[in-house]
Amino acid sequence: MPTSLLSDLSDAHLKGRRVLVRADLNVPLDAERTVTDDTRIRASIPTLRRLTSAGARVVLLSHLGRPKGSPDPAFSLAPVGGVLAAALDAPVRFVPDLAGERAVAAVAALGEGEVLLLENTRFEAGETANDPDLASHLAGFGDLFVNDAFGTAHRAHASTAGVAERIRDAGGQAVAGELVARELRFLGDALADPERPFVAILGGAKISGKIDVVEALLPRVDRLLVGGAMANTFLLAMGYGVGASLVEPDRVEMARALMDRAGDRILLPVDVRVASDITGSASVGVSARVAVGPADRTADIGPATERPYAAEVLAAKTVVWNGPMGVFEMTPFRGGTVSVARAVAEAADGGAMTVLGGGDSAAAAEVAGVADRLTHISTGGGASLAYLAGAALPGIAALSQGEAG
Ligand code: ADP
Ligand code: 3PG
Ligand code: MG
Repeated sequence: MPTSLLSDLSDAHLKGRRVLVRADLNVPLDAERTVTDDTRIRASIPTLRRLTSAGARVVLLSHLGRPKGSPDPAFSLAPVGGVLAAALDAPVRFVPDLAGERAVAAVAALGEGEVLLLENTRFEAGETANDPDLASHLAGFGDLFVNDAFGTAHRAHASTAGVAERIRDAGGQAVAGELVARELRFLGDALADPERPFVAILGGAKISGKIDVVEALLPRVDRLLVGGAMANTFLLAMGYGVGASLVEPDRVEMARALMDRAGDRILLPVDVRVASDITGSASVGVSARVAVGPADRTADIGPATERPYAAEVLAAKTVVWNGPMGVFEMTPFRGGTVSVARAVAEAADGGAMTVLGGGDSAAAAEVAGVADRLTHISTGGGASLAYLAGAALPGIAALSQGEAG
């Protein structure tokens, strides 16, 4: 049975009701605690607007960063409240409490259509431990739970899975919000029944962190394009030298086995951009993969690789992309990532379904200036990888099943 959705519920059902919403407002802050990227805040707006316009009383929960289970002002959600209010174009009340009397009083005082943001869930040690007492306390804040925290769906925490179970035990409903529904639709559709050709692009730092994703995608795709430092381990397995590059020699056997299974469906770089040091002012050379020197560090795919990768992407009807092709954070090494990003955007313009997951990959799409042309950019890093790898997401698995009503 499918996960129950907020969109199944009528306005009449929501009016006046106290609704507990878990969002992922885990956004980056600078040294002055100013929000530097509000993507996740904006992504939470559709659910909040739906609830406020229906006249619900919204109690909003999120974590921020990784505080150690006790209050730490550096991780307060206070700065997020202001940015959220601006994005929502409505007041957001913030109370620096979660498990104490102030939170309870503020929840009781909430009026129809109002939003109350409580303090960082990770200020409580019971959050990451999925403590039943904390989950029960949170469940007391509403009789309807909306999980819209896709980025945290791979965590079984008190404010994600625990509270959903408590509310359901008490006879209430736990439903997926607008963002979670959108994420599941795009990531799920891409995997379940892709229009072909289906091309996956995988890159990033390490093969070891993404082996489950490679394993899950390999049987489904028509082409798997590999870039980033991840490609180095495959090149080593093919017998090429990778010099002083980031590589995982202990994964060479695994890479070889994957290549055997993939046959000609896997494409690896034929050339790479190399430098003696990976710095923003490095002087960059292009090297055929047969010619990487002992002191070279590979930091990007090369131009002779960009062309076939772009051609595969342009021919695709479905593209799933995770992981940059090189060290895109530094100008000398972003050419390969930008080239792939442009091809993905062009494929999207031509009607292909293009889905991007991964925290650094989302940043790379911004750098390449293509973010608004792709079909869907996931707000999840670890969560989108877990989902692409076919893992159950505890925050979703704990929700009610069947049509909500
Ligand atoms: P995502 O967050 O999208 O899942 P990853 O975290 O796996 O992506 O990988 C992103 C990181 O990989 C980036 O910081 C990038 O600099 C790094 N990277 C990509 N290619 C290389 C390379 N050839 N050498 C070293 N680091 C690389
Ligand atoms: C993320 O940023 O990936 C999510 O907010 C989850 O954060 P976490 O990795 O600290 O659990
Ligand atoms: Mg990353």
